[in-house]
Amino acid sequence: MGRIAVGRTSEIPEGKMQKATVDGRDILVANVDGSFYACDDTCTHSGASLSEGTIDGTTITCGWHGAKFDCKSGKLEKFPAKIRDLRSYKITVEAGTIFVEV
Ligand code: FES
Repeated sequence: MGRIAVGRTSEIPEGKMQKATVDGRDILVANVDGSFYACDDTCTHSGASLSEGTIDGTTITCGWHGAKFDCKSGKLEKFPAKIRDLRSYKITVEAGTIFVEV
């Protein structure tokens, strides 16, 4: 599909994340110490929006049942049951605009 603009760097402060919908797909964009990362926003456990959870470093925690994922890789870090990793996406920033490759 290509590279899609999902927002401005000024809209996501450090340590925050927000959801962007790209071609019907919900993607979480996170600002970790000034670097931007993107992964699926939908938790692979029961479908919560991960951007409504919390973030600590690169670890995002689902607000529903506490699954932890790395927002850089999409890998599951911690959950009592085996659930799928998230898909991660390449990000580029140009002139303050954040682009996700989907
Ligand atoms: S929906 Fe995310 S941990 Fe259950």
